[in-house]
Amino acid sequence: MAEVIIVDSAEAAGRLVSDHIAEQVQIAPELVLGVATGSTPVPVYRALAQRQARGVDFSRAFAFALDEYVGLPDGHPESYRAVIDRELTQPLGFDPTRVNVPDGRVEGIETTGERYEAALLASGGVDLQLLGIGTTGHIGFNEPGSSFGSFTRVKTLTEQTRADNARFFGSLDEVPIHCVTQGLGTILRARHLMLLAFGEGKAKAIAAAVEGPVTASLPGSAIQLHAHVTVVVDEAAASRLKHSDYYRWAQANKPAWQGL
Ligand code: PGA
Repeated sequence: MAEVIIVDSAEAAGRLVSDHIAEQVQIAPELVLGVATGSTPVPVYRALAQRQARGVDFSRAFAFALDEYVGLPDGHPESYRAVIDRELTQPLGFDPTRVNVPDGRVEGIETTGERYEAALLASGGVDLQLLGIGTTGHIGFNEPGSSFGSFTRVKTLTEQTRADNARFFGSLDEVPIHCVTQGLGTILRARHLMLLAFGEGKAKAIAAAVEGPVTASLPGSAIQLHAHVTVVVDEAAASRLKHSDYYRWAQANKPAWQGL
């Protein structure tokens, strides 16, 4: 099962996860990091930027984003290409030629999934995948009903996800309807999954993903099929977990050699 770590705040999660990533990139400078967008990973990227300033070197690491909107004009500030560039590539000092985001341009969209899968395979695969979870239970943009065997492809966003993401755009109408996203099968190939969630709004999705039945109706529950998963949540996001006492007990008694 997943290891569940309940922390006091998103900042504390950012410190914990960034410690781990910094350690991994020092051991393996060509680490392949799977990166997420949205609000959730921001504390991790902020904490990593501070470490970069103190000498942790990301210039040889690779990054692969989970997803991208389809059809936003080149350079749109809310395209995930732009978000990753702003939040990760520049502040952490990644080599831009080693940072990959699915190609969301309409031209050639039929083959964008295949091309992304080929790039992932050529990289040797993701070592550590950061994940957020949507209120619909999506990971990446795999909305309810996504196949556990799916690879990178075009999907249609739910109206709920479009409404959730409208805060990044001028209005709901500006939120694209389609996206390209790594599939659940793609995500499950990563060697280590780290799912993060903060706030009461995520409590239901987290409880379902971690403790609910494994079902395509709640795509985040796919994490239960993976051998190495770390879930890092604040108290509010943990508030609907049935076994939270056990998770705290396990953390308090964790053998020091185990690491994450
Ligand atoms: P958020 O989005 O991090 O902005 O809450 C998470 C997601 O939709 O996967």
